[in-house]
Amino acid sequence: MAPVIRPRRLRSTAALRRLVAETTLAPRQLVLPMFVADGLDAPREISSMPGVLQHTVDSLRKAADEAVRAGVGGLMLFGVPDEKDKDATGSGADADDGVLNRALRVLTDDLGDDTVLMADTCLDEFTDHGHCGVLDAAGRVDNDATLDRYVSMSLAQARSGARLLGPSGMMDGQVAAIRTALDDAGFTDTGILAYAAKYASAFYGPFREAVGSSLQGDRRTYQQDSANRIEALREVRLDLDEGADIVMVKPAMSYLDIVRDVAEISDVPVAAYQISGEYSMITAAAERGWIDRDAAILESLTSTRRAGASIILTYWATEVALRLS
Ligand code: PBG
Repeated sequence: MAPVIRPRRLRSTAALRRLVAETTLAPRQLVLPMFVADGLDAPREISSMPGVLQHTVDSLRKAADEAVRAGVGGLMLFGVPDEKDKDATGSGADADDGVLNRALRVLTDDLGDDTVLMADTCLDEFTDHGHCGVLDAAGRVDNDATLDRYVSMSLAQARSGARLLGPSGMMDGQVAAIRTALDDAGFTDTGILAYAAKYASAFYGPFREAVGSSLQGDRRTYQQDSANRIEALREVRLDLDEGADIVMVKPAMSYLDIVRDVAEISDVPVAAYQISGEYSMITAAAERGWIDRDAAILESLTSTRRAGASIILTYWATEVALRLS
């Protein structure tokens, strides 16, 4: 009689499970997204993301320092301007005294090359209509006019010390336009973390509160349709050809097949963004006692690594980095 083959043998003790684990999770692979807001006297908790704050510049400095000391791989900054400073072209985005560029300079001074400072390169936080680009006369997002704005915003962020720029607006040609402009201005060491395959997702809901978004309607003319897989590979190939240094898939949890597909064709590091809705769902279910919070967080991150992401943006970056070390 042939013996019973027993895969369970390797699961029989915690030490054996640790020995044979295929996927690892390390603090350096986690990037912390952070929000810095104008016009606050004190940090403000985002009600749909309990535990995540809109920072003042002071509280941002402290939280950034804690994250870096916990060993996270980098920080991704989002700016939240005053409502009165928003306009049709998002001029706060490339103003040197805009909230995001000011915060970048402060963190560059504080942290220098002790971390990798990244910036969201997108207009939606700065426009009064809330779209990621500028609008044409018919109210549609004008791709090529938006590229000019992204170029200007990129140069301001590079001047302010960002090491990696994160164009997240899904405009065609955005990576090439930004790369060319950076090189022409001598910022050859400033890299691009391209949101290459970014889907129009209902799970961004809490983020819209986080950045005080003015958006009416949706982003379906520029972000991808969740039905599509092959299209993601096309988007990624284009960004690689245009000079992306890192490519990102977003969201993570509902798109792990895309993370795997992208990992298979990419010859640059692959990142995935565990977005606001993913954070809020686990947080809410855990608050009700329906799931084990800490285990669910680790499982969600390990699964994203297993799918093929070597870098994960997560609002739990500091907490998990501390837990892992
Ligand atoms: C756009 C941007 C969004 C997120 C990051 N960059 C929102 C959107 O596309 O509507 C979402 C992040 C999250 O949900 O955590 N600048």
